[in-house]
Amino acid sequence: MQTKHPEQDYDPLVKETFDTAHLEYARLRAQCPVAHSEALGGFWALTRYADVQRVFSDPAMFITSVQNVVPKVAFSGRRPPLHFDPPEHTPYRSALNPLLSEQKIAALEPTIRSCIRAELAPLLARGHGDVCGDFASIFQVKVFSIWMNLPAALEAQLAEAGPAFVKAVESADPDKMKETSFVLYDMARALVAMRKAEPMDPALDPVSSFLAVRHEGAPLPEEMVVGAIRQVLVVGIVAPMIMIGNMVIHLARHKDLQAQLRADPTLIPAAVEEFLRLYTPYRGFARTARADVEIGGRLIRKDEAIALIMASANRDEEVFPEPDRFILDRPNIREHLAFGRGPHYCAGTALARKELQIALDELLKATRDWDIDGEVLMSPFPELGPWYVPARFEVAA
Ligand code: HEM
Repeated sequence: MQTKHPEQDYDPLVKETFDTAHLEYARLRAQCPVAHSEALGGFWALTRYADVQRVFSDPAMFITSVQNVVPKVAFSGRRPPLHFDPPEHTPYRSALNPLLSEQKIAALEPTIRSCIRAELAPLLARGHGDVCGDFASIFQVKVFSIWMNLPAALEAQLAEAGPAFVKAVESADPDKMKETSFVLYDMARALVAMRKAEPMDPALDPVSSFLAVRHEGAPLPEEMVVGAIRQVLVVGIVAPMIMIGNMVIHLARHKDLQAQLRADPTLIPAAVEEFLRLYTPYRGFARTARADVEIGGRLIRKDEAIALIMASANRDEEVFPEPDRFILDRPNIREHLAFGRGPHYCAGTALARKELQIALDELLKATRDWDIDGEVLMSPFPELGPWYVPARFEVAA
C-alpha cells in the first residue's frame, strides 16, 4: 500500500472542451483510478464506479460535514441537508421530500411546460442564442418561484440573483460568488420571516414545511432553515441547465438520434436517462473519511477531501459496456450515479427528470434541426459540462 501521495497524478485545472475531461478520466480509470491532485485545495479523485459507490454507501465512515465539495467554498455557512450527516441531516429531508415527490411533480407538469414554452419562444423567434443562459437557467428560476410560492418581488429578485450566482460560479469569480450568495441568503431570510408571520400549508410550501418539521420535539434552528432554503434556491438550477446544454450539443452532433426522438417522443424519458449517464454534470461532490482508509491500494488520511467523480464512474467500462456510446435502453441504466446514492441522494430527481424531459420534448417539437454555432464554454469543478451553448435553430413551420 502506498502511503505518500505524489504531488500531482493529474491536473484538474487544464482548460477543457466538451470531450477532453472524459478522455482524461478514461486514462485515470485505467492507470490511476484513485488519483491525487494538489490543486483546488488538494483532493483525492475516485474515478471508478465501484469506489464511488463504496463511498456513497458508507455514510458512517465517509461524511459530508467536513468538506462536501471540491473546491471547498470557504466563505459560505453550513447549509443543510448537504452539509449535515445523519441523523442531524434526516429532518431536513423529511421536510423536503414530500414536496418533491413524483406525485407532487406530476401535478406541476403543466406549469413546468408553460414556463418552458414561454422562455423558449424568444430564443426560437431569434433563431439562435445561448441555450443555457437564454433559456435553461431562466425557465428553471420560474419553475422554482412557483414551486416555492414566491411573492412577485422575490420572484423578480430570484430571476436576477439565481442566474447571477450561476454565472459567478461558472466563471469561478470568488468575489462575485460571495456577493451573489449573500443576496440569496437575504432572500432566504426574508422568505422565512414571511412564512413565520403567515404560515402556509406545509404540504404545499417548502419553507413552511421546514418551519413545521420537528426534530426530537423541537423546531429546526432558524438559521439552519435559512441555510436550507439558500441551498435549495441554487442546487436545483445549475445541473439541469448543464444537462440541457449537453443534450443540445449531443443531438447537434447526432442528427439521426435527433430525428428519431422527434419522430417518437415516447423515447425521450429513456434518452434523458442515458444522457444523465453519459454527461453526468457533477464530479466534485466530496466526502472525508472519519479515519485513515485504503481505497484502490492507496492510503487516504482522515479529513482529506475525496471527490466522487460520478461523471467518470458512469463511464466505467466495467459497469457500462461501450461507455462513450449513447445507447438507448441500456439494461442497467438505472444503476447510473448521476443523482448520487445514500442519504444525500438528490432530493430533486423527479423535478430534474421532468424538466429535462419536457425541455427536450418542447425543443424537438418546435424545431426541425439545430447546430452549435460558436465556442461552447465549460464549467469548472464541481460541475462538468457546458454553461454557454450558442446554437442556431431551424424552426418548425
Ligand atoms: C440534472 C439535475 C440534477 C442532478 C444531476 C443532481 C444531482 C445531485 C447529486 C449528485 C446530489 C448528491 C450530492 C452528494 O451526495 O454529495 C444532489 C443532491 C441534492 N439535490 Fe440534486 N441534482 C439535480 C437537480 C436537482 C433539482 C432540480 C433539485 C431541486 C430541488 C435538487 C435538489 C437537491 C438537494 C436538496 C440535494 C441535497 C440532498 C441531501 O444532501 O440530502 N437537485 N443532487
